[in-house]
Amino acid sequence: MDKVHQQYEAYPYPQRDPREEAERLLVMSPSHLPEVIHHVFGGRRPRGRRLRVLVAGGGTGDSTIALAVQLSQDPIGGDVTYLDMSEASRAICEGRARARGLRNLRFVTGRIEDVPALCPGPYDYIDCCGVLHHLECPERGLGALVEVLAPDGGLGIMVYGETGRTGVYHVQDLLRRLTPEDTLAGKVEAAHRLLADLPETNLFRRNTLVKADLADDAGLVDLLLHPRDIAYRVPEVRRLVASAGLRIASFTPSWLYEPRFLLKDPELLARASARPPEEQAAIAELVTCALHKHTFYAVRRENPVATRLTAADRNAVLMPFFDQVLNEIRSAPPGTPVSHRDRGGLSLTFSLSPPLARAAGLIDGQRSLAQIHAEAGAELGSWEGFFDAFLPLYELLVAVGAVHLRHAVPVADRGQAS
Ligand SMILES: C[S@@+](CC[C@H](N)C(=O)[O-])C[C@H]1O[C@@H](n2cnc3c(N)ncnc32)[C@H](O)[C@@H]1O
Repeated sequence: MDKVHQQYEAYPYPQRDPREEAERLLVMSPSHLPEVIHHVFGGRRPRGRRLRVLVAGGGTGDSTIALAVQLSQDPIGGDVTYLDMSEASRAICEGRARARGLRNLRFVTGRIEDVPALCPGPYDYIDCCGVLHHLECPERGLGALVEVLAPDGGLGIMVYGETGRTGVYHVQDLLRRLTPEDTLAGKVEAAHRLLADLPETNLFRRNTLVKADLADDAGLVDLLLHPRDIAYRVPEVRRLVASAGLRIASFTPSWLYEPRFLLKDPELLARASARPPEEQAAIAELVTCALHKHTFYAVRRENPVATRLTAADRNAVLMPFFDQVLNEIRSAPPGTPVSHRDRGGLSLTFSLSPPLARAAGLIDGQRSLAQIHAEAGAELGSWEGFFDAFLPLYELLVAVGAVHLRHAVPVADRGQAS
């Protein structure tokens, strides 16, 4: 058993207890179903066209449980295959599934590199969160996943971000030097003592972005004692994705990859905005240095899927995700700027006219855009006038990850359902 495998048998990640299932459901990016439907299928997936999902490197089950629960409640429906090499992690995920009585799940133990033989699919959606950066060859692992991807399917991936992990690799190096012969438990104990003793100058101590993982030993091991992890900048993420014949449909949240939200100086912003989108993302990352992970959706290079909203989409519905931004809009006094602060501390300020803010307040995952137009009030004018004013708001709300598009699509016929 290699060292990475040993670690996840000893410290399944993240640290979870099946008894917590009674208290809360954790739904995060990239395992939020409306976000998947938005980015991978452009918001179009017929009811009843069941989604075949693979969670590759499922760990203790956050994505697996979140997706299985959402699919069992969504009119689309679907099943989840969990794959991980760690038996200990699988046992925890199975306990969580039992605690919820989930039936749309199956479990496979093995390596991602062997996925075409272990569980050939095809899959409409593959979740691979926090895993590729631990593989001996991430390109080979991703290539194996693409072999089992349906032609119009997509992946939700998270890999570490280099800039936001500043200091992590210094402490990893330090611990390797201080504890070359210790057992893993001994290294954990030494790490606790080291963290209590780091001076203020230490780059890890100064890093405020990655400390959540220090809440328990599984997190500490994953962050500071991992035998194999690599971190990426945007151009490297693109190279990884391209190596498997894929393209990035979107990073999430995408505003952190767009200089127009991050650079204030008009001259510098004009320079950045003149660059191609991929270069803009690389610039944005270096401006904030706040990305400790890159979460993104990827589809095959030739897949033209897009999330454009047009004036013909009167029946489209916007699904809210984390109510934070919509609540910020609802609670701002009419006519005053709205401020959104993300978890890393970066902030975004925007202004909405009172009728547009009212329209945003009506987004609830149920009302269609036509209903929102009808209810938001006469000040917004005709449908065309409303749509022109609403489109930039839609784009902003998508950029901050606050809403996802769901088109009204006819129910799948027998031929489509699988
Ligand atoms: C950091 S955890 C992430 C768990 C889960 N995806 C999440 O985000 O909560 C990485 C997981 O990938 C699994 N893993 C690492 N390399 C693997 C491989 N080559 N094949 C299968 N699983 C692997 C580990 O066992 C571990 O459970």
